[in-house]
Amino acid sequence: MAEIIIVRDQAEAGSVAASIFAKQIIANPGTVLGLATGSTPLSTYAALARAVREDRIDVSGVRGFALDEYLGVPPQHPESYRSVITREVVEPLGLTPDQVFTPRGTGPDITLAGAEYEAMITEAGGIDIQILGIGSNGHVGFNEPGSSLASTTRIKALAEQTRKDNARFFGSLEEVPTHCITQGLGTILRARQLVLLAFGANKADAVAAALEGPVSSAVPGSVIQQHARATVIIDEDAAAKLAHAEYYRHAWRSAQDLNAVAF
Ligand code: GLP
Repeated sequence: MAEIIIVRDQAEAGSVAASIFAKQIIANPGTVLGLATGSTPLSTYAALARAVREDRIDVSGVRGFALDEYLGVPPQHPESYRSVITREVVEPLGLTPDQVFTPRGTGPDITLAGAEYEAMITEAGGIDIQILGIGSNGHVGFNEPGSSLASTTRIKALAEQTRKDNARFFGSLEEVPTHCITQGLGTILRARQLVLLAFGANKADAVAAALEGPVSSAVPGSVIQQHARATVIIDEDAAAKLAHAEYYRHAWRSAQDLNAVAF
């Protein structure tokens, strides 16, 4: 079972998640990061950027792989995930663009883009630590309900709910792409460590289903239950529908007490 940490707000979640990432980067300066877009990871990226500015971590040797990209949206489009990752991660952390990779959503032989991306991840030695958000319908990356638990990077149709959720980034619902290319659930499970974050009441059903429901392709986020090293960081609103929230609070408090004990 994942370690579940219920925090006050996004700022606290960002600093808890950033400290997990920082520990990994300090232990291995060549860490391969798995990066997510969306609003959820922003407080983590901001906390990591602070750590870089204050010289607490050196990210010059890290590499990053984004989870997904819209199909047919050129990289220079302001809402391509390439642009989002540049704005939210590359620039604030002072990385160079060639340290970070996104699946390609345009270009020739697009059906081969998934296998190309898998080969790039393998070539880099695999993803050491992957940050994840979760969609209101339970998707992770862009693995919509019904995605194979063993899937690898491939082209997928977006669910209407996801297009509606993401319409705020585009001028209108019509402008939201209909397809994407996304790391698969099998790709995500191969990352050596997972950190999933969720905030707000509209994530409460997805969080409860992913953490306490059956592992099922109907709730792609439930794959986190199959990972041996996963941390979930959520606010009170996103935790509201968890049956065992009290136990998770107790377990987290006692883990901290154990850490505080000098052996
Ligand atoms: C998007 C992304 C996901 C993200 C999710 C939640 O569509 N493809 O990687 O986790 O939906 O988005 P947000 O963090 O904005 O709620």
